[in-house]
Amino acid sequence: MSEETLLRLIIERRTIYDFKPDPVPKPVLERALETAVWAPNHGLTEPWRFHVPGERTRAALAQIYARLRADKRCEPGTDAWRQAHEKALQRFLAVPGMVLVGQKLDEDPLRREEDAAAVSCAIQNFQLAMWAQGVGVQWSTGPVIRAAETFELLGIDPSEQKLVALLYFGYPACIGRSRRTDWREKTRWLD
Ligand SMILES: Cc1cc2nc3c(=O)[nH]c(=O)nc-3n(C[C@H](O)[C@H](O)[C@H](O)COP(=O)(O)O)c2cc1C
Repeated sequence: MSEETLLRLIIERRTIYDFKPDPVPKPVLERALETAVWAPNHGLTEPWRFHVPGERTRAALAQIYARLRADKRCEPGTDAWRQAHEKALQRFLAVPGMVLVGQKLDEDPLRREEDAAAVSCAIQNFQLAMWAQGVGVQWSTGPVIRAAETFELLGIDPSEQKLVALLYFGYPACIGRSRRTDWREKTRWLD
């Protein structure tokens, strides 16, 4: 890959919210995970943990997602709540693939902060590796990753691991626009 191709890949990657229904082959996901773990990490702590839900776990996650979403929008027990729940359920189940990303929690606060940065780098590696293979990702930090039921479902102890992302992925049905302020406005050159 040329320098120009790599830089264009980084600049042109977009967060994807609408996916085609086609499944993403497992080797594509494995390649992205393989790329993710080459992120920088101070002290080689390798704090990232990836949880790839299978059918049973996805169905249970969908229930958690739908309940949280419906509760936020409508009064539980009403028709509106049931409608919102069903809509959210279908929306979640329509996403072709997903990975939850966790951070192993170090006891040292500084190391914890550095590990959080390392996990973010791993997620960006993942997004770029997916994008290079034609797959789009949405990094979500919605309430599912903080729900006690999610930790229970995944068999994670929240005192040992924090969930930092739910990454939805699939082939893009629509590539949205995004904007950035010119880097010159964010940069100072000092003597
Ligand atoms: C830490 C972090 C958390 C994010 N959480 C969400 C989220 O919960 N929902 C969402 O739609 N996008 C989320 N995003 C994606 C951003 O909204 C997205 O990167 C931004 O809109 C810029 O779009 P682009 O990635 O296409 O350039 C998150 C991104 C980061 C880095």
